[in-house]
Amino acid sequence: MDKYIICGERRLTGTVDISGAKNAVVAILPATVLANGVCRIENIPNIADVDTALEILNSLGATVSRIDKHTVEIDSRTIVTQTVPHDLAKKMRASYYFIGALLGRFGKASVPMPGGCYFGVRPIDQHLKGFTALGAQVLPMKNGMISACADSLVGNSVYLDMVSVGATVNIMLAAVYAEGITVIENAAKEPHIVDLANFLNSMGADIRGAGTDVIKVRGVNRLYGTTYSIIPDQIEAGTYMAAAVATGGDVTVRNVIPKHLESITAKLQEMGAEIEEFDEEIRVSAGNFLRHCNVKTMPHPGFPTDMQPQIAVLLSMAEGTSIINEGVWENRYRYVDELRRMGAEIQVDGKLAVIQGVPHLTAAPVKAMDLRAGAAMVIAAMAAHGVTEIEDIQYIERGYEDLVEKLRGLGADIRRVSEDEPALQTAQ
Ligand code: UD1
Repeated sequence: MDKYIICGERRLTGTVDISGAKNAVVAILPATVLANGVCRIENIPNIADVDTALEILNSLGATVSRIDKHTVEIDSRTIVTQTVPHDLAKKMRASYYFIGALLGRFGKASVPMPGGCYFGVRPIDQHLKGFTALGAQVLPMKNGMISACADSLVGNSVYLDMVSVGATVNIMLAAVYAEGITVIENAAKEPHIVDLANFLNSMGADIRGAGTDVIKVRGVNRLYGTTYSIIPDQIEAGTYMAAAVATGGDVTVRNVIPKHLESITAKLQEMGAEIEEFDEEIRVSAGNFLRHCNVKTMPHPGFPTDMQPQIAVLLSMAEGTSIINEGVWENRYRYVDELRRMGAEIQVDGKLAVIQGVPHLTAAPVKAMDLRAGAAMVIAAMAAHGVTEIEDIQYIERGYEDLVEKLRGLGADIRRVSEDEPALQTAQ
């Protein structure tokens, strides 16, 4: 079991380049199933979830060629099966996007219940409701497999009972070849929804309204290969912005779309950080004093739930009492016990976390409970007094490209070690 060893109290300075968006690429790779031609995808982040999505495409029979670290070409014309293997599906949540894509292209799909981070129950009823509305038959779960089939798919109106990124993506994928018009109401508006729509449209799809809460998909007869570049990762950028603030640093976060970061920028400014926006970069500088504030997570353009653990670390060190209201997931505070080990004072009651700021965090052995919780532990460790060991880093590496190298480039004292290496050494 590998771990990170971090010697804290190092001020981060310099420039960091943001990779392609994880949540966009994990939708766009399954979407290549729909193309009658080669899709060349650029600015792909080099993360474990991408490896898994490519392995799934490979297992279906698609021809996958890695051109370089950030570019891949996929030819889905060679696909021979519509069943995703269990061992791959359980590695990531987004494996369920293969249901919409395979159903849309072949009229059938069998995909195991997906894995991914645990934030409480993660139902997929809205996805299935969408498939059914388009005329698919969703079969009762057998051996942990979700199976759907349709002789033909016909456009329909689908109202989502709650704003769901996953259901919006899956219904878009299933609808691109459906006859007539599909209208998704109360759709998710996240940047990765817009990126997926742009990708599908670049293949010849007819999707309008992505980025608003009504998306219209007019079915087409054929989609072609395309070349497409993934948008920058909003949450990776937000994580480095938070890391800069936590360490009282001065960091320029490069290759970002500042508009996607507005809610994060607003909260960091409220806490006292100085933020300068440029065309494709953001400079974040902070002193040693942070003000408390309240945060409610919401679907985009609200404050992203995927930044909730990272902001909790900052509030743990801010003067006064702050309240976080988790508005998306029922159980996204599993990292709180870990943060308490480092001296944070946090009380959780249902969806609320009440945080009483303390002057300093101190090092402790902690675990990454999930992807973003793990990122939060890294931020806490970089700010804390002493040497922190973080276990279960495989969660973090599902979603952050070259985290150790990027942080070392900013002056952090972080090292990745295997279990058999000596534990407590200074990282640099
Ligand atoms: C995606 C992101 C995840 C992020 C989340 C919310 C990806 C790969 N993952 O997850 O990082 O935290 O959006 O921004 O993009 N729900 C239902 N029924 C459904 C679907 C969802 O009740 O059929 C509920 C969920 O339990 C949750 C809320 O709706 O409370 C939002 O979930 P959703 O937007 O679907 O999250 P994911 O797409 O799984």
